[in-house]
Amino acid sequence: MNALVADMSSTGNVQKVAEAIYREIAYRKEIRPIEEVHDIGAYGVSFLGFPTHQQGPDKKVKEVLARH
Ligand SMILES: Cc1cc2nc3c(=O)[nH]c(=O)nc-3n(C[C@H](O)[C@H](O)[C@H](O)COP(=O)(O)O)c2cc1C
Repeated sequence: MNALVADMSSTGNVQKVAEAIYREIAYRKEIRPIEEVHDIGAYGVSFLGFPTHQQGPDKKVKEVLARH
């Protein structure tokens, strides 16, 4: 199985969590900015992290989620 950890982080909180999850994954894994995710279906498991801005995900995150 391969795993994806993707995040968006403005001030670093989400990034710390994403990196902690990434460190604990014991199989094949990638970590990348969420806007660079092209095909979530290519991974056995995906962890997506982003901050709440104005009661919801940032516009960039909404675009990624809408594509999948
Ligand atoms: C411009 C802005 C808007 C925010 N709006 C919300 C919000 O509507 N609701 C909420 O619970 N937190 C809100 N927050 C708090 C962030 O979601 C929270 O601090 C988050 O941990 C930031 O993650 P980051 O450090 O990875 O950027 C907002 C933060 C910023 C900077």
